[in-house]
Amino acid sequence: MLLSPAGVEALRTALTRARFTSNGIADRLGPQATGGVARNDFRAALKATEDRDPLATLIRVFICDQTEPEAVVASALAPLDLGEAVEGGLLERHGDGVRAGVDLEPYGDEWWVLADVPASARPGRPLHSEHVLGIGGATQTLIGATVRRPVGTALDLGTGSGVQALHLSTHARSVTATDVSPRALRFAATTAALNGQDWELLRGDMVAPVAGRRFDLVVSNPPFVVGPGTTTHVYRDSGRVGDAIGSELAAAAPALLTEGGTMQYLANWVHVAGEQWDERVADWFAGTGLDAWVIQREVADPMAYVNLWLTDVGEAADPQRMAAWLDWFDAHKVEAIGFGIISLRRGGHADPVVRVEDLRQRVQPPMGDQIGAWFDRQEFLQVRDPEALLAERYRAAEGLQLRQEASLGDEGWAVDRQVLAMPHGLRWTEEIDPLVLALVGGADGRLPLRDQLALLAVAHDVAPDELAEAAGPIVAHLVERGIIEPVAD
Ligand SMILES: C[S@@+](CC[C@H](N)C(=O)[O-])C[C@H]1O[C@@H](n2cnc3c(N)ncnc32)[C@H](O)[C@@H]1O
Repeated sequence: MLLSPAGVEALRTALTRARFTSNGIADRLGPQATGGVARNDFRAALKATEDRDPLATLIRVFICDQTEPEAVVASALAPLDLGEAVEGGLLERHGDGVRAGVDLEPYGDEWWVLADVPASARPGRPLHSEHVLGIGGATQTLIGATVRRPVGTALDLGTGSGVQALHLSTHARSVTATDVSPRALRFAATTAALNGQDWELLRGDMVAPVAGRRFDLVVSNPPFVVGPGTTTHVYRDSGRVGDAIGSELAAAAPALLTEGGTMQYLANWVHVAGEQWDERVADWFAGTGLDAWVIQREVADPMAYVNLWLTDVGEAADPQRMAAWLDWFDAHKVEAIGFGIISLRRGGHADPVVRVEDLRQRVQPPMGDQIGAWFDRQEFLQVRDPEALLAERYRAAEGLQLRQEASLGDEGWAVDRQVLAMPHGLRWTEEIDPLVLALVGGADGRLPLRDQLALLAVAHDVAPDELAEAAGPIVAHLVERGIIEPVAD
């Protein structure tokens, strides 16, 4: 840990006493200063904390990144000894006072997370090679995407600050967290102790420390950045060439999961000229026996990608680094890099589904609920043959909308395109033909689908059996996306 057990306890006492919590800070600063802080405008927050009482001092040091007199900070952190705080790296001496040595963030209603101060807050200072990532965009993506259902055992691979493990502790009976970096593990252990948590913390390369063990839920925000395999910063670089960390985790998943277990991780994958990116990524799961849903949320071109990651470690101005990285992309015909969420389920089905798709639209949070429901729908589909699917009754999703595009001609409006739109959840849009539109429109949960199709066949003058056969995959697709939902008896 960064502090002794007694030191962590003393820190917890100081933070609790001062009300250095999300709510305590918001109450103290008020909405205007709180809004300003979110935009990195600290003027109102600094004004509201001029008194230098303990909460004001902690806000100035850990939120507004101010250097404050030692005696004032010592009094705000008491009973934690200031010397121990400096020794442990919590504070650093600066000018004629002390300032934050780590990012100590109140998180959620009751938690604190410890991470390194971001590169942007210490311009010109090189990032530690074992820099411990704070709560950024990717971290939050995985937090939001995780299926939060009660489980027995949960594993966080590459725990860093421990923030994913913290969330796992709300719905898992036991939490194991691993990291290759001893420094990161010290941060995670401190985050755990500060929040009164007891996790099993293991050091080692990816799944090596848990070889032979299985978990009900595995999450990982691994060092997924794609490149030549050079490692300068462990939070970002896996040391694997290209996007191999993504395929490596896919290959490891079957042996990590209990029956019915779920694994979710973030990944980057390359789009190679002359190859279908989705087929390439789907290949990662061939032979794993797992149901897989790969969601591509973003795509970046190589230049933007390299710029982003060099800026992230404060190296954007190094033309040699940029050139080497871009040359590697050129040599491997990488046209773009995809970012997304991979969710796997050990469903035990003979014919597992592997779906790789683009989902760039804004979705209704939390995405984890949608991902959990997607696997439930897969379960429904996988245990039914086409006959059984037709025997079910379905209801169109609540709030479903129809959007039409039409052109005005001599005969009046002619509909060119009809699109079904889900206004909530994953907000899918789906172009459909008039027959499917009629099927969805008529899905009111009263008739079994076979009877509904028989009526449609008469109305559209098609053979009922042919229609039933053609409808099978379409219905499965509509169910998979939640556009029609089976009605329970
Ligand atoms: C992107 S950070 C994620 C940190 C945290 N879990 C989060 O979601 O914010 C990746 C983490 O993986 C760790 N890591 C890097 N290479 C690893 C490896 N080969 N095996 C295990 N952990 C690794 C890093 O030290 C870092 O803590």
